[in-house]
Amino acid sequence: MEKRWWQEAVVYQIYCKSFCDTNGDGIGDLRGVRSKLPMLKELGINCIWFNPIYRSPQVDNGYDISDYQDIDPTYGTLDEFRELLAEAHTMGIRVIMDLVLNHTSNQHRWFQESRKSKDNPYRNYYIWRAPKEDGKEPNNWGNYFYEGKGSAWQFDELTGEYYLHNYSWQMPDVNWEYEPLRQEMYRMMRWWLDMGVDGFRLDAINRLKKPEGLPDSKKPPAPPVGIYGYVVDRAICTNVPGIHELLRNINKNVWSKYDCMTVGECGNLSSDGALDYISQGNKEIDMLFHFEIGKNPDIITVREYKQTQQRWIDLMKHNAWITQFLTNHDSPRQVSRFGNDREYRVPSAKLLATLTHTMPGTPFVYQGEEIGMTNVYFDTIEDYNERYTVGKYWTMIEAGEDPETALGKLRDMSRDNARTPYQWSDDENAGFSTGKPWIRVNPRYREINYRADRDSKDSIFDYYKRLIALRLSCPAIIDGDFRFLLMDHPQIVMYLRSCARQTLLVAVNFSDDEVPVQFPEELDGFVWERLLTNLDGSTPVMDRRDVWMPWEAEIYQMIG
Ligand code: NOJ
Repeated sequence: MEKRWWQEAVVYQIYCKSFCDTNGDGIGDLRGVRSKLPMLKELGINCIWFNPIYRSPQVDNGYDISDYQDIDPTYGTLDEFRELLAEAHTMGIRVIMDLVLNHTSNQHRWFQESRKSKDNPYRNYYIWRAPKEDGKEPNNWGNYFYEGKGSAWQFDELTGEYYLHNYSWQMPDVNWEYEPLRQEMYRMMRWWLDMGVDGFRLDAINRLKKPEGLPDSKKPPAPPVGIYGYVVDRAICTNVPGIHELLRNINKNVWSKYDCMTVGECGNLSSDGALDYISQGNKEIDMLFHFEIGKNPDIITVREYKQTQQRWIDLMKHNAWITQFLTNHDSPRQVSRFGNDREYRVPSAKLLATLTHTMPGTPFVYQGEEIGMTNVYFDTIEDYNERYTVGKYWTMIEAGEDPETALGKLRDMSRDNARTPYQWSDDENAGFSTGKPWIRVNPRYREINYRADRDSKDSIFDYYKRLIALRLSCPAIIDGDFRFLLMDHPQIVMYLRSCARQTLLVAVNFSDDEVPVQFPEELDGFVWERLLTNLDGSTPVMDRRDVWMPWEAEIYQMIG
């Protein structure tokens, strides 16, 4: 595969709204990010992904963009962004922007024009349909945010038609069939790339193409939205025939003209259909985020984790590249989800990082995981902010669920788990802001915060530093071969990474239990040096060969 800079990227995801507030309005800002660049440099990352910071009414925390070519005033100004970009580049840190091409805000000028009349030049920028004969919505699709009575269509009295919104009614889907819309989007992307940004994380990118004729979903309507007859069918607008041609066109007109990185968010996509998107020869996107591990709502067993990784890693034999991540702004905190955020919070946080940073592919760190931040469990729905949790909660209540059960079902997976303010210290508001934060701080901030972690001899941040530095100095990790050992073991994850110059062994005990040591015979007769452990002071497992301690993680290099 042709070598590209993003294969050696270690990306740090910044949810600006919750990162660092410097003006006391309770919302993180660009100055805050800028003040933390030295800390990110120290961590060792070399690329930042900004969640959307464009001008936006913030219905969905910036995924509802009202001006693609401006920064939201709560975050700062375009000039401040340019300064930040320049400074990051001077420090050797690239910057990618989150780009939402599937929908805009209903406050976007295009939509404001579009709704004015059926013959407005912007009418076809969006997807309008006349009501059915009985006045009902054009089809039975439900919106993903469980808003209103659940339909994905919003009636607009001004022209007597419905427009499509797969997400909130305040986020109308745009119409990629319409050439003038495409050209506007191309121009806008070039504008950012010409400014110097290094690429894009592409929101909901496999949803741009809608199915011909917008047919009803055949899925049976499931409560709670189903009680109104609408169907939340996330598959119906994903991977629709024609999506690849659409992406190839964007690539040809925009991305291919720059040395940029594109990483697409692709829900409803298994490894089977992924190559079409990421095979380099197809010239679509460079890599993608799938939902099969980090964002899969079902709890995954250790064996399933290995099998899933194997399927994705196998794609790399076909001229393709993958991502490694366990969390983001839409998922629970990884240490709560996959680790043990109580008695083994520190070792399990380190163990999860060990996997992400030594498996094949580009690793992504979500802000706060490097200090072991955990899920938040608010007691009342009023403390939750994000549209999905709130929308689904009230729909469940309307469908007859009692409040406690409804909240109980939503809490673990709520996207707000990842969105509470960064815990910088045990000062008021966790040192995030001198004002009232836009969302409550996780009450565990007194115990879990950046300052406490850095002061601890068991610092997670420090482990990340060593891990990232190790990764970037090991050719076997960046693009070496990969092979699982003990594939069927229910607790141990073990694999070899090797290239002509180096062989590494990564082995972790992905469980709360002490596990009897077992090594495959093929490792006997070699000499191994331990490069990293998450249990400082422990004797290498290779030497003691008794039991793996709970959440123990080690990296070895073969030296003879
Ligand atoms: C995926 C984003 O990651 C999520 O936060 C957002 O709500 C939806 N797409 C809609 O843009």
